[in-house]
Amino acid sequence: MADLDFECITYDWGVKDRTKAKELFGIETARKAMKFHREIPGYKMTPLRALPNLAHMLGVGGIYIKDEAERLELNSFKVLGGSYAISRYIQKRLGLTDEETTYDYLVSDECHKRLGDVTFAAATDGNHGRGIAWAAMKLRHKCVIYVHKETSQARIDAIRRYGAQVTVVDGNYDDAVRLIAEEARKNNWTIISDTSWDGYTEIPTWIMQGYTTMLLEAQEQFSGMGITRPTHVIVQAGVGALAASVIGFYAALYPENPPVFIVVEPDKAPCVFESIKANDGKCHSVKGDLDTIMAGLACGDPSPIAFDILSHNADFFLSVPDYIAARGMRILSCPLKGDPFMISGESGAVPLGALYSLMTEKGDEEIRARMGINSSSLIFMVNTEGNTDPKHFRQIIWDGCDPVPHQYRTRR
Ligand SMILES: Cc1ncc(COP(=O)(O)O)c(C=O)c1O
Repeated sequence: MADLDFECITYDWGVKDRTKAKELFGIETARKAMKFHREIPGYKMTPLRALPNLAHMLGVGGIYIKDEAERLELNSFKVLGGSYAISRYIQKRLGLTDEETTYDYLVSDECHKRLGDVTFAAATDGNHGRGIAWAAMKLRHKCVIYVHKETSQARIDAIRRYGAQVTVVDGNYDDAVRLIAEEARKNNWTIISDTSWDGYTEIPTWIMQGYTTMLLEAQEQFSGMGITRPTHVIVQAGVGALAASVIGFYAALYPENPPVFIVVEPDKAPCVFESIKANDGKCHSVKGDLDTIMAGLACGDPSPIAFDILSHNADFFLSVPDYIAARGMRILSCPLKGDPFMISGESGAVPLGALYSLMTEKGDEEIRARMGINSSSLIFMVNTEGNTDPKHFRQIIWDGCDPVPHQYRTRR
């Protein structure tokens, strides 16, 4: 066994502050998001899959993965945020009550006429843009999506399939975010951004709240398994909106006794990790190409409203190399006998890859003890995407790209 190959920091304000989490992610907010999503034709709960054999092998009580590869037809959880934010935007513009803001009304001719022509716009590294394009198409509005230069053709094609106009920006994800904010001002587009900035927080808050549908589903599914709640949550972060939503939801639900929260990011784009490390309560950027295989997590600027939740509630932050995500993908697609098979993209599989390393590599005993991971731990994570980039997926699963370095391989 080799020493642990990634960085971990513990973050502790002394006493955690759950106030904002309760304000933004209370159970009523999650119920409201779920009510909206349930009305979408084709909505069904995504599975919460248990991996008992892997849990036994790693010495934990249970591993539970919410499989968002099956979310609507979109292969990722992201549509939950974009669609909900658009519904809240229309509700506010037309002055609708909650009861009036039904999916049927939003797609109706009357709603369209009252609203006039709207162009929804977003920057994306793939999944968010696909969700916005899908929602705009359902509502018969225009959609403009900016992607960065490393975005794969498959991801671009998947967005265009829903009728959006896609522009490739010469820069990284954060450059695409900045550029579309400027262009939206000039062209009177409505930005539905999953990241926030100074003066732009309402829509990104709705997006984070939209994600809570999957957490309410998970709690229902846990209760069907006789489990009250997970003891540990491992969640991946790009700009941090997903992690803030997951952690905010559980912190609001169990303010006195929340699960242990672990945030994981690629070491080529660890913007939340670096911001926590700076220890001044502010967001810090990571510059450069951010050329991680975890395309959904390739973000250099944290979302300030998400960071606020994370810095007051999360416990551990991990910054991990790409091979950890690739190993997670291979474990899920070739599981132990009796465990379910799952298709997971690079960003979706990294929490499991990180858990595997934590539980198998030398040097991690101390971190494990600090995290309190042991044979009674019930560990929850989200497979946030399926096979969203088929060529790259084959390169990893079939061709063995991003192999585990020699010193970290399984010993005989
Ligand atoms: C598949 C996938 N997982 C996780 C994330 C991370 O979400 P966030 O940027 O809110 O941290 C993204 C973001 O696009 C994603 O596409």
